[in-house]
Amino acid sequence: MTKILNLDRRSLLAVGALAAAAPVMAHAASKRPAPAFPKGFLWGAATAPHQIEGNNVSSDLWFVENQKPTVFAEPSGDAVNSLELWATDLDIVKSLGLTSYRFGVEWARIEPEKGLFSQAMLDHYKRIVEGCHARGLAPLVTFNHFTAPLWFSAQGGWTNPESAQLFARYCDKVARAIGADIAMAMTLNEPNILLILKNILPPPVWDMQRQTLAAATKRLGVERFLCANVAGREDVDAIVAGQMAGHKAARAAIKAVRGDLPVGFTLSVLDDQAAGKNSLRDKVRAELYGGWLEIAKGDDFIGVQNYERAVWNDKGRLPAPDGADRNWSGTEVWAPSLAGAVRYVHAATKVPVLVSEHGVGTEDDTLRARFIPAALEALKQAMDDGVPVLGYMHWSLLDNYEWIFGYKPRFGLCSVDRTTFVRTPKPSASVLGGIAKRNSL
Ligand code: FCB
Repeated sequence: MTKILNLDRRSLLAVGALAAAAPVMAHAASKRPAPAFPKGFLWGAATAPHQIEGNNVSSDLWFVENQKPTVFAEPSGDAVNSLELWATDLDIVKSLGLTSYRFGVEWARIEPEKGLFSQAMLDHYKRIVEGCHARGLAPLVTFNHFTAPLWFSAQGGWTNPESAQLFARYCDKVARAIGADIAMAMTLNEPNILLILKNILPPPVWDMQRQTLAAATKRLGVERFLCANVAGREDVDAIVAGQMAGHKAARAAIKAVRGDLPVGFTLSVLDDQAAGKNSLRDKVRAELYGGWLEIAKGDDFIGVQNYERAVWNDKGRLPAPDGADRNWSGTEVWAPSLAGAVRYVHAATKVPVLVSEHGVGTEDDTLRARFIPAALEALKQAMDDGVPVLGYMHWSLLDNYEWIFGYKPRFGLCSVDRTTFVRTPKPSASVLGGIAKRNSL
């Protein structure tokens, strides 16, 4: 099999060095970025297994989605049936003109019972990796995108002292199955999401999360049931500590199988901006990203996932300006926020950045179509200013299951009929595809 892309640590560092040497003065000289992206820049779309595959019945979230009470607006059910339709999904990625696909492997399918590994499921994901290569797409793989096996969360999830070693054991199996043929590995997706949600979700939602977990704990007859993206506020610090140990153990396990495979994790990063004197911005940044950015310094790259900005004065977050573009939930969307987040993360870590998610949840695809080129223009300006960016993965390929919000938010480049599962690219998909095909703004 020909490997589409073989990024090793040395080439990543070379990208970094080149970018660092790029004239910082370019910014001052021209306001518009040079339109062409570097050769080999990865253009892709991102998905997560639980959100698209369907019937993830051995997972923790499947269980809690189907409890009473539950914080989930509706259960994931069949999702968009990508467990069967993955080849169709890859065909779409290819037909849009993209060059890579970020997808996840589902721990709950690979290890549905503690210590019981499914060769058939490892083979399934191997076929997806081969399917990427057959279509000329670089496979970028997330090893854990929020969901865990039910048994893992039923023993306290990431707060259990065994968690890092158990995660590493699973990552070892995955790396042995597909590690040789993937372009990049992401251990954890947004392990800082609960920290971010602390500031965003209103207290009643936290209460409902606690009630959901209490119902699951009782029904399973266990001491403590905890998920990675559904928890009580009081559990967040212990979960994050477990995930930090988990990432390090997973990185070592993957590297032991293939030392030159670029390994990192992805982080949820707002474009935090300071307003006025004594802005809370830096304090907020330290809380939300600080520990993770330290850890990323030891990785080959960091995945940045950005959806919005936050402007902080000395008292708190300021409301969005009048007339701002807004997403499905009324939150402001501001295209340059991606570049702001990327610049910040690179300055803090000095490692190359992969935009592992960026998008907008909206019924209005014209907003998405405007938002993509505007965000990419600002991103390219950051690159011209010396920030090494390896690629851009749009979230998401498909309208899918958006966690506690169910199927209402629409992030897809393609809509999906949830009865026939037919996928239909939206006009914004051609906008991104056009940029990808030209490799230029
Ligand atoms: C990110 C998640 C992803 C999706 C997008 C909208 O926080 O990683 O699964 O839910 O937000």
